[in-house]
Amino acid sequence: EIEKVYKTISSLSPRAQEAIVIPDVEQFLADLHKVLSTQIDDQFRLVDKNNYLPEGYVPKELVSLKTNDHYKVSRNDLSLIPYVEAALCEMGDAALQDNIKLLVSSTYRSYEYQTKLFNRYVAQDGYDLAVRYSAPPGTSQHQMGVAIDFGSIDDSFADTAMGIWLNKNAWKYGWSLSFPQGYEDITGYMWECWHFRYIGKDACNFQRNYFSDIQQFCIEFIAKWEEINNDYTNGDYRN
Ligand code: DAL
Ligand code: ZN
Repeated sequence: EIEKVYKTISSLSPRAQEAIVIPDVEQFLADLHKVLSTQIDDQFRLVDKNNYLPEGYVPKELVSLKTNDHYKVSRNDLSLIPYVEAALCEMGDAALQDNIKLLVSSTYRSYEYQTKLFNRYVAQDGYDLAVRYSAPPGTSQHQMGVAIDFGSIDDSFADTAMGIWLNKNAWKYGWSLSFPQGYEDITGYMWECWHFRYIGKDACNFQRNYFSDIQQFCIEFIAKWEEINNDYTNGDYRN
């Protein structure tokens, strides 16, 4: 397994390899197995510009969101996977303790919706710019029902009380910033201070402890790890 850890890391980008720091590989493996054991359905699925969801991909269950005692919504057609919505309630309650009511502005988006959105941005800004901030259909975390855009969905959000609170505390409740500042070459997207993906508390800790707190590196590692494991299981592994 230790050999597999290093083999997995060596298959990642140079920037990822630099960012991954493993002081104690036995501990790392224990933490990895703990994280993997918490995975629900496609929770850690890698979805980015190189890893598409099928057009017909729809989460197996979605709950609609309404303004409630835990958070507010900016529109009435929002929905999330049930366990993700439960995690939002928990984080919303924590934010309320600090007198902040989280505002949810965008959540699950169907393939068709993302197509319309992306095409609208392309018409507005041209493909080259649009693709830096909007996901082509099939490549959005929003299609998985695990991501939320909070607040105003613009850079000024980072300086609001809600933006500051999320930046500091979201990880404690299992929410990870997907597109951090200075990582467009890694994530494919410009900084989005408002977009969080729910990966769970153990995975957030794992990401912080070993992956310089960069979700893309952590999720890529898990994807490669599982790929390599499958190769082993299938007997395809060549050293
Ligand atoms: N804005 C992010 C990248 C999305 O469209 O999913
Ligand atoms: Zn988003």
